Amino acid sequence: MSARYAVIGNPIGHTKSPAIHTAFAQATGQNLTYTAIEGKLGGFAAEIDAFRAAGGMGVNITTPFKLDAFAYADRLKPGAQLAGAVNCLNFADGKAEGENFDGLGLTRDIVANLGVALRGKRILLLGAGGAARGALLPFLHEQPEELVIVNRTLAKAIAISEQFASHGTIIATGYEALSGERAGQYDVVVNATSASLHQELPPVPTSVFRSGALAYELLYGKGLTPFLRLAREAGVTRLADGVGMLVEQAAEAFAWWRGIRPDTAGMINQMTVKLA
Ligand code: ATR
Repeated sequence: MSARYAVIGNPIGHTKSPAIHTAFAQATGQNLTYTAIEGKLGGFAAEIDAFRAAGGMGVNITTPFKLDAFAYADRLKPGAQLAGAVNCLNFADGKAEGENFDGLGLTRDIVANLGVALRGKRILLLGAGGAARGALLPFLHEQPEELVIVNRTLAKAIAISEQFASHGTIIATGYEALSGERAGQYDVVVNATSASLHQELPPVPTSVFRSGALAYELLYGKGLTPFLRLAREAGVTRLADGVGMLVEQAAEAFAWWRGIRPDTAGMINQMTVKLA
């Protein structure tokens, strides 16, 4: 019998995860099925209990259940603990172990796929929600020269920088400071706000992009978002969206569950939407 995995979210119709994991399974010769579950709001635990009772060995978790998954886990990996959210559960040993591969997927995409080393670089992270939090620990592990988190609601960025203090220095600031006392240029600027979902632009000045900078939009498959357009107009030529991050976090989950890491390049190429 093949091993069962799934992604759970609401809505879930748009998910690419079943296609990605099914292709990974074929490429690595793993016998598994991977389906999509539309979870009921407030019904996460019951849904997961039923999936496990039917033989489910692991799940990916997407919006809006990452906090439910955090609460559901019997054990948390350090990355999930710090991110405050779980995007992957592993039931292999009869317990539910929670991890968050979003940030690792992002750094792998930047460093390994896009070829942009983060060590000694200046990183500017826009946003202080769940997506931004997940990126911080993997970023710190890369030992950047400086990691700055900027948020519309400054208090959230400050709280995060304090929470991560034992793992490294994160400078918290507001957008207006980027044109004032914190003005400076960054090698990598990541948009982890949800602004692009609404065709909005975080109020970031064009002066933040250093020559040769990478502008990275976490949202994927939407072409040029307002943030990427701003970067392009500022003269940035290295633009990326989150498709590589999506595929890399999937590969990490697959490796955790199955003990074998699939190649990601072909899948990323296949899913890439031109940024023009
Ligand atoms: P996610 O889980 O996708 O990170 P979230 O937790 O709701 O979603 O966080 C959304 C982030 O995008 C927040 O940092 C939010 O800023 P606030 O904390 O000030 O609300 C940010 N955001 C959303 N729309 C924005 C906009 N138009 N400009 C700047 N930041 C925006």
